[in-house]
Amino acid sequence: MSNKRLLLLDHDVEWTAIASEALIKDSYEVFSVDTFDGALLILKARSFDILIVDINMGDTNPEALLEELFSSADGAKLIVCTPKSSLSQATRLGRLGVLDYLDRTNHATALAELRERLKKALLEGDLAPFASPSVKGIEEKSPVDGKNFHGLVSRNWRMHSIFELIQTISTTSVNVIIEGETGTGKELIAHAIHARSGRRGQPFVTLDCSTLAHELLESELFGHEKGSFTGASERRIGRFERADGGTLFLDEVSNISIIVQAKLLRVLETHTFERVGGQRPIVVDVRIVTASNRRLDQCVADKIFRDDLYHRLNVVQILIPPLRQRLEDIPLLADYFVHRLALEHGKKVRGITTAAVRLLTAYHWPGNVRELENVLLQAVILAQTTMLDVTNLPARIWNPHAPLQQQTSTRLTEQLREPEKEILLSTLKQVDGNITQAADLLQISRTTLYAKLKKHGISPDQI
Ligand SMILES: Nc1ncnc2c1ncn2[C@@H]1O[C@H](COP(=O)(O)OP(=O)(O)OP(=O)(O)O)[C@@H](O)[C@H]1O
Ligand SMILES: [Mg+2]
Repeated sequence: MSNKRLLLLDHDVEWTAIASEALIKDSYEVFSVDTFDGALLILKARSFDILIVDINMGDTNPEALLEELFSSADGAKLIVCTPKSSLSQATRLGRLGVLDYLDRTNHATALAELRERLKKALLEGDLAPFASPSVKGIEEKSPVDGKNFHGLVSRNWRMHSIFELIQTISTTSVNVIIEGETGTGKELIAHAIHARSGRRGQPFVTLDCSTLAHELLESELFGHEKGSFTGASERRIGRFERADGGTLFLDEVSNISIIVQAKLLRVLETHTFERVGGQRPIVVDVRIVTASNRRLDQCVADKIFRDDLYHRLNVVQILIPPLRQRLEDIPLLADYFVHRLALEHGKKVRGITTAAVRLLTAYHWPGNVRELENVLLQAVILAQTTMLDVTNLPARIWNPHAPLQQQTSTRLTEQLREPEKEILLSTLKQVDGNITQAADLLQISRTTLYAKLKKHGISPDQI
């Protein structure tokens, strides 16, 4: 049927044995390897049409793994075939050149699906060569409508200039501050900065600074020596040491106490610190990316954040627009999430109706992309049909949100106030101030008329 060449990369040798036997019978030329390094070696020697890979390969970071495979296997397409537990992680990594994601928890089912998928790829001519994303610009690295940048989907120009900025600074290690409302994608952006940079094979370490009391935060950042304080029964390696050579992402950085801010500044200036209770200076090479959903310049003005630290951290600043300021992203994100979530949760939902997307676009999204993702998650999980429709969306999406409603109605009431007063006065004049006749003419009850007269300060006796 075919003489296409396939490479199976998986540490589950039982699976590679079953799959290669069946695929060879289907006339594919099949190679299999059980280590990532082995795959890179074989890719140097031969070209392949399709790589069938498990992203869960021991120590290798899945994103780095895909990047490397793409750049080594110029022209090959990918099918990610991985246990259910790592499927959702796989789908987050972006989809350029990935033909499909298959759950290989059950070998027999996975094999049947894989054969189907390969047949389809051949029929649909999916096997035409493509260029490696790692050497191409942003547009090529996109699963949806050509616009996926390290798992970030957008067709908004402000978001695109952020992607371009990340590309521009990819050869440097400058510190970056990311600001944006909750759920706008700060963590994804931080990750993209790391993944695009020369540090990508090195650790990406995260610390949420919003919840930790200052002693704990200090020990999390710098580590501590055994016995340095009550409860420090073991030596602990801090995030700075763990991030050496890579990127440290400090989330909600505005919450760091002034004391820890001083220590942080010192590391930024000298690349050196000591563990809590330790004497020995430790030298590190760490890039710092910080995020905050409060404006840090405002925190500086309010004197809760050190000016000098702010300037050290803020070499490049990225401000992510809220979702309500990029409505064109809503249909794109809705489509992306529905497909991804259906796949992750094994639901047969295939899409979302135009009417439902219209309703989503009319909502104000205070929780931004995370809220949209959660709304669609709930909809996908509860869906009984293959297309999500307006009835699958929660009530708050249906109801215009309260503040806007109030504003509109206030505005409308205000606009009607003067005309209403004029109508009342002229009707009363017509009937010489007779309340019963005026109410009849206006087709309202006498009680309502009295209330309206009171509201406008009109006394029938004056007429
Ligand atoms: N442009 C995007 N494309 C696809 N998914 C996105 C995008 N932006 C955000 N998301 C998803 O929305 C969720 C929230 O994103 P993230 O955690 O990066 O936001 P955040 O700004 O760090 O939020 P918070 O301020 O609450 O920490 C995540 O599940 C993320 O994958
Ligand atoms: Mg976050």
